Amino acid sequence: MGTATPTRSRILAVGRAVPDRVVTNEDLGVLMDTSDEWIQQRTGIRQRRHVGADCGATDLGRIASEEALRSAGLGIEAIDLVIFATLSPDIDWPASAALLASKLGARRVPAFDVKNQCSGFLYSLACADAAIRSGRARHVLVCGGEIHSSGLDLTTRGREVGVIFGDGAGAVVLGPSEDPGRGIFSVHLHADGSNAEKLWLEAAASRRRPRLLPEDLGGDDPKAFPRMRGKYVFKHAVTRMPEVIREALDHNGFTLGDLDVLVPHQANLRINQMVAASMELDESKVVNNIDRYGNTTAASIPLALHEALADGRVAPGKLVCLAAFGAGFTWAAALLRW
Ligand code: ACO
Repeated sequence: MGTATPTRSRILAVGRAVPDRVVTNEDLGVLMDTSDEWIQQRTGIRQRRHVGADCGATDLGRIASEEALRSAGLGIEAIDLVIFATLSPDIDWPASAALLASKLGARRVPAFDVKNQCSGFLYSLACADAAIRSGRARHVLVCGGEIHSSGLDLTTRGREVGVIFGDGAGAVVLGPSEDPGRGIFSVHLHADGSNAEKLWLEAAASRRRPRLLPEDLGGDDPKAFPRMRGKYVFKHAVTRMPEVIREALDHNGFTLGDLDVLVPHQANLRINQMVAASMELDESKVVNNIDRYGNTTAASIPLALHEALADGRVAPGKLVCLAAFGAGFTWAAALLRW
């Protein structure tokens, strides 16, 4: 636990993990009626990664978290709180965060899951930031990890969703900022559950008895696979993301011209291009890697952040905005000085 209360928290280090197995658009074309041209044109995705059997979200999460801890120069004993963002937990319950913490060697540290889909990483970041600012924690591990591949309908019936998602994990270690000019300025969170059925996984569900039926896996519209009204989701994403990015900038007295880097959730390259165009933000300031990993949901922002740090786009002094939109609907943005 921290002693002096810091004014601000800071991301100290980032880690990542993706499975070795690359699944190209052509590979999916063997399983379903689709084409490389359709997928690239609509989404910008060329390939994604899929795990093999017996690999849960916390197995990738462990690798990403270990890298983040290593590059922060900290051992797991320095971590006061573990938050795991996922819509694909290893098991339904208990929370995967406790499994992750235990795989990392922690036995008594508080740990909880955040199940908020594509905004899950930013909701987790907000919790970590609050814990550090209030002095309840000094160092917090936030990991976003997803195994989508075991839950997709990879037939023609499920092609609209099946081609989009990929497996992966990204992790950050946060700590108090020693420099008052650096760190997280603010995190802005929103949700609107009235649109839940536009992008959801309906079964298994506690409101049904039994929670899962044999027909949930078959028929024209199986409830045990994610379903999406693609165009509807797309339209909301390109409206809400610019709104929340502007909200974060305004809140801190910055303008779009001050922004050095935007690291958006990777749902669809076209969404990120439209967001940039509508805000007149130069595309060179927007980090995109969906072409190689698809939509890795809670992992996508830390995966993209890791890449932008490695190639120098994110560097000390840069004003960085992280932004997401996804199922719920939920949307969020964080503004920080690296
Ligand atoms: N391959 C070939 N054809 C396909 C595929 C595919 N993989 N998927 C759908 N189609 C077909 C449909 O059956 C439909 O055919 P029809 O016209 O004969 O009925 C047609 O293609 C639809 O094409 P478009 O209308 O041009 O598709 P669109 O431009 O809307 O692109 C997409 C679809 C990529 C899904 C887009 O709507 C999208 O990205 N939406 C947003 C996704 C998103 O942001 N999700 C949120 C994050 S996920 C989360 O939060 C968990």
